Amino acid sequence: MVPRALRWLWVLCCCSSGGSSSSGGGAGSSATFTLTGPWSREREAAAFRVLSASLRFCFLRSFSWVWESLNRHRYLNSAFSNENSTASYGLNQFSYLFPEEFKAIYLRSKSSRYPRYPADVHFSISSVSLPVRFDWRDKHVVTQVRNQQKCGGCWAFSVVGAVESACAIKGKPLEDLSVQQVIDCSYSNHGCNGGSTLNALNWLNKTQVKLVKDSEYPFKAQTELCQYFSASHSGFSIKGYSAYDFRQ
Ligand SMILES: *[C@@H]1O[C@H](CO)[C@@H](O)[C@H](O)[C@H]1NC(C)=O
Ligand SMILES: *[C@@H]1O[C@H](CO)[C@@H](O)[C@H](O)[C@H]1NC(C)=O
Repeated sequence: MVPRALRWLWVLCCCSSGGSSSSGGGAGSSATFTLTGPWSREREAAAFRVLSASLRFCFLRSFSWVWESLNRHRYLNSAFSNENSTASYGLNQFSYLFPEEFKAIYLRSKSSRYPRYPADVHFSISSVSLPVRFDWRDKHVVTQVRNQQKCGGCWAFSVVGAVESACAIKGKPLEDLSVQQVIDCSYSNHGCNGGSTLNALNWLNKTQVKLVKDSEYPFKAQTELCQYFSASHSGFSIKGYSAYDFRQ
């Protein structure tokens, strides 16, 4: 696996060595070939060989990572294509990354460091008649999907999402609350380097801190200093919570 920066360097190298040959082998990036002494047909041919080799190398390199992406999409689109799946896979802003790179940049949160959910709870729901289909989005109590960018703050997004929906289900207006507030202020967590939903809920419950509107404390995609609001400032706090582990 080749680091991304190195790949861009190759591309740059190709582009600028193309440029420098037409301008007579000037400074530029000519790590690939440096011309000194009188110009001759052999030298020209040698320079051309080096240039075409490096272009070919660049082309194959770019081709291999686009090829790998396309293969992956084809596999994902066929393996999971059935009536229950609405996902379709294609090129997006992450396609230039190999899976290992994507993992290193975006999946940094280490959940094993955090407490597990208290207990397996077995509900008896046989006596309740459940609808065939139920989606809280149809009840307008779920806010839009947000983009966490390069911030490992999924734990904060999920807790804030839960508070937003719990408030809306209780009849309050549905609004985006501040994820950045939880990222900056929730202790026992590590901001954009990861955290635990349980720790965040525990912090909200213990401190009775009010989550303010997202527009008042907007998302910055990095951990910053905690901003405090006066006790009279409007926001939503929680009175308690329960967490369950639904795994079998
Ligand atoms: C789709 O989901 C239903 C209900 O869970 C299941 O019975 C069915 O086998 C699934 N279909 C496929 C193709 O997986
Ligand atoms: C939430 O806080 C209340 C009041 O301090 C406490 O009684 C309760 O046990 C807390 N809930 C959880 C799940 O920690």
